[in-house]
Amino acid sequence: MAKKAPHEIHGGTQMEKLVSLCKRRGFIFPSSEIYGGLNGAWDYGPLGVELKRNVKEAWWRAMVTERDNVFGLDASILMNPQVWVASGHVEEFTDPLVDCKKCKHRFKADNLEGDRCPDCGGELTDARRFNLMFKTYVGPVEEDASVVYLRPETAQGIFVNFDNVLNTARAKLPFGIAQIGKAFRNEINPRNYTFRSREFEQMELEFFVTPGEDQKWYEYWRDQRYSWYLELGMRKENLRLREHEKDELAHYAKWCVDVEYNFPFGWSELEGVADRTDFDLSCHIKHSGKRLDYFDEARKERFVPYVIEPSAGVDRSTLAFLVDAYAEEEERTVLRLHPRLAPIKVGVFPLLRKEGQPERALEIRDRLKRHFAVTYDHAGAIGRRYRRQDEIGTPFCVTVDHQTADDNTVTLRERDSMEQSRVPVDSLVSLLREKIYGE
Ligand code: GAP
Repeated sequence: MAKKAPHEIHGGTQMEKLVSLCKRRGFIFPSSEIYGGLNGAWDYGPLGVELKRNVKEAWWRAMVTERDNVFGLDASILMNPQVWVASGHVEEFTDPLVDCKKCKHRFKADNLEGDRCPDCGGELTDARRFNLMFKTYVGPVEEDASVVYLRPETAQGIFVNFDNVLNTARAKLPFGIAQIGKAFRNEINPRNYTFRSREFEQMELEFFVTPGEDQKWYEYWRDQRYSWYLELGMRKENLRLREHEKDELAHYAKWCVDVEYNFPFGWSELEGVADRTDFDLSCHIKHSGKRLDYFDEARKERFVPYVIEPSAGVDRSTLAFLVDAYAEEEERTVLRLHPRLAPIKVGVFPLLRKEGQPERALEIRDRLKRHFAVTYDHAGAIGRRYRRQDEIGTPFCVTVDHQTADDNTVTLRERDSMEQSRVPVDSLVSLLREKIYGE
């Protein structure tokens, strides 16, 4: 039986070209590549890590910094295993799995048509439930008593800290707790590049509300989250909202709507916005015996808040922003990333490697790098240097030429329009700040 490629990618040539660009220019590499990779794990290279940081920064800004009723948290990945018993994950966080009796390949049962193996036609076993949580052991003894799980969602770190944040932040309903961090799932079939991985990052908000006001806040967050992607330049025709059918809902959800992106491999989930009701807090109250409720001083009443959860994937949004930005034009390949997301904001070049132009360009580079991610390049024809920046999404290039020494101006070249204008060196920082951040 031929061994499957370690990283299966669907979606034909467009995905292949993007994957190749990401590898060649240092956005994304297969994990531990020199040993043949590890299925479902990816590494972000020098440009990828900047892009991903910018996605997370844009989320944190929109969800925490620009609001006065959302507080941040960074909980540990390893938690007391009772958390996952209480949350229902030990019992419920499973996929139905079947094995082929002949070739021994494993499949998610709900993706299969018929009862014969899609790889060799062999007979399949009955479906059994496979828990997606990774297990490990704390301390030196590998026994049941020391089992812990790698968290499959960051959300539970928020629920178990509900009371800590409520009291220390002196929060009043409605309020939210936000967290960005790694999550792990032993996916049966990781696929579509970084889209379905075994190790990934989530950006989650748990927004606590008075029961009865949950529908209003659910609609509010659905609209906020949909707009977030558009504000960061994603094309509207590639984005949609899809309400879950009742039989699709996770064990904790009353309603859920997905924000979906039209990937080359089809419409797929970027983010879910769910009404988790008081399910999680109530489960933790029951299992821990602790008080995780809220006292409403106006109504003089104690109750367990409901929670609305927008839960987004960092890797999936990053991939969607890349796919959406990728364009092939006659003369060039360009990533039309929103300037806020672009890994490098400005390329600084001397037109020629003489007449003091490199020195002047380096001086400008040093001045700009206190404000933006900047790169300097003096290799090759100027047109080629612009193309190199276009391919990695750099929105602006600044070129020093013979005129710079006379009147202290440079050429500012814009990635999308390819237009060039003459601007004074002294106004560069404020001009770029305006163009990148709208400030
Ligand atoms: N706390 C709710 C929760 O975890 P989910 O729909 O299972 O809900 C939320 O996951 C988001 O996390 C997804 O919309 C997706 O963006 C991301 N995600 C989930 N599983 C993933 C995986 N295997 N690889 C990459 N991202 C994943």
